[in-house]
Amino acid sequence: MTSNGKIRVGVLFGGRSGEHEISLRSALSVMSAMDPKRYEIVPIGIDRGGRWYLEDDALKLLADTTPDLKALSAGDNPVTLLPHPNNRALVRAPAPGDLARGANSTGGAISEPLDVIFPVLHGTFGEDGTVQGLLELTGIPYVGAGVLGSAIGMDKDVQKRLLRDAKVPVVRYHAILRAEWEATHAPARRLARDLGYPVFVKPNAAGSSIGISKVKCAADLDAALEDAFQYDRKALIEAPCSGREFEVAVLGNDRPEASVAGEVIVGAAHDFYSYESKYVDPEGAATRIPAEVPRALMKRLGAIAVRAFKALSLNGMARVDFLADRRLRRIYVNEVNTIPGFTSISMYPKLWEASGLPVTKLIDRLIELALDARRERDQLKFTYRPKS
Ligand SMILES: Nc1ncnc2c1ncn2[C@@H]1O[C@H](COP(=O)(O)OP(=O)(O)O)[C@@H](O)[C@H]1O
Ligand SMILES: [Mg+2]
Repeated sequence: MTSNGKIRVGVLFGGRSGEHEISLRSALSVMSAMDPKRYEIVPIGIDRGGRWYLEDDALKLLADTTPDLKALSAGDNPVTLLPHPNNRALVRAPAPGDLARGANSTGGAISEPLDVIFPVLHGTFGEDGTVQGLLELTGIPYVGAGVLGSAIGMDKDVQKRLLRDAKVPVVRYHAILRAEWEATHAPARRLARDLGYPVFVKPNAAGSSIGISKVKCAADLDAALEDAFQYDRKALIEAPCSGREFEVAVLGNDRPEASVAGEVIVGAAHDFYSYESKYVDPEGAATRIPAEVPRALMKRLGAIAVRAFKALSLNGMARVDFLADRRLRRIYVNEVNTIPGFTSISMYPKLWEASGLPVTKLIDRLIELALDARRERDQLKFTYRPKS
């Protein structure tokens, strides 16, 4: 808390993932939607190489949201977030030059404590539990899923197993390791044949549709797997469910609530919601909020989204994505995103807005939930002293 009673929020953005730039855009939206009367914003940027920058240097990262982010290299104050005895402190790590001069590794000034961190990082090294683990060690409360929920959210195979266990419908699929496939290609062919072509081949943990192919015949399977294995050592071969795609926003900790569902309508030029349709082709996809579906289905999508959120040990927020056939007979959860896009045109904030929660209030709620989760955790004992 600052002397004038504001909550100091570290907004963490950028990062080492393919979704670096989306993260910058999301962070800009989050920061501009935060009520300046309630919050003091402390921007914390991570460049593509994984170096951390505080405040002014972090803002340089945002100054130019072109892919090169040339301004970034001008910043020369990388910081390291370290566990610190008085918690809630950011430790400014020495610049490499200082290290060369023999400064010790925790040298440098400690800036004012932070009350909470909002990680606005998408994909690997941000949404996958790694940053959450670091934040857990610092003791600073943070928005969104914890270590486990974040890791599950990035692992499509583990996620689907847990969903299946909770009776949440998922498509039939098989997982295959690169080493297995390299040893012999025949089992993958059998698995695909078992599901029936076309199949979807995807890396187990990636995002933005990177490495995903719709495979129409056995002759194209190897190339698709090879592509997927560039991004993960495990790949999934999935039965298709094509027709319509819905997304539901979930908010809460132990009593999560669902927004209305929205629909993603993929442009006719694209086979599925690919990287090109998401980010390259301006006509690649449109959204419809709320989705035009019967009222009973709208309710069901919300209920399934909440069940998925609970089954996956999530916290704070998540966007739950669905696949459906054109006639809406089959509905499957495709995946969850624990740090969904937060740009001005992103589904997550728009779905809440359409459900009566404007973005400024949404952010208040997310920060409250982060503080609640921390309070609950602080009450737990981590040691045990047997009674004598
Ligand atoms: N089993 C499937 N059936 C039909 N379409 C699929 C299937 N799996 C993926 N897709 C298409 O590919 C897109 C991206 O897949 P997804 O699993 O969501 O990966 P990412 O995590 O990269 O977003 C989906 O939005 C959908 O259009
Ligand atoms: Mg997706």
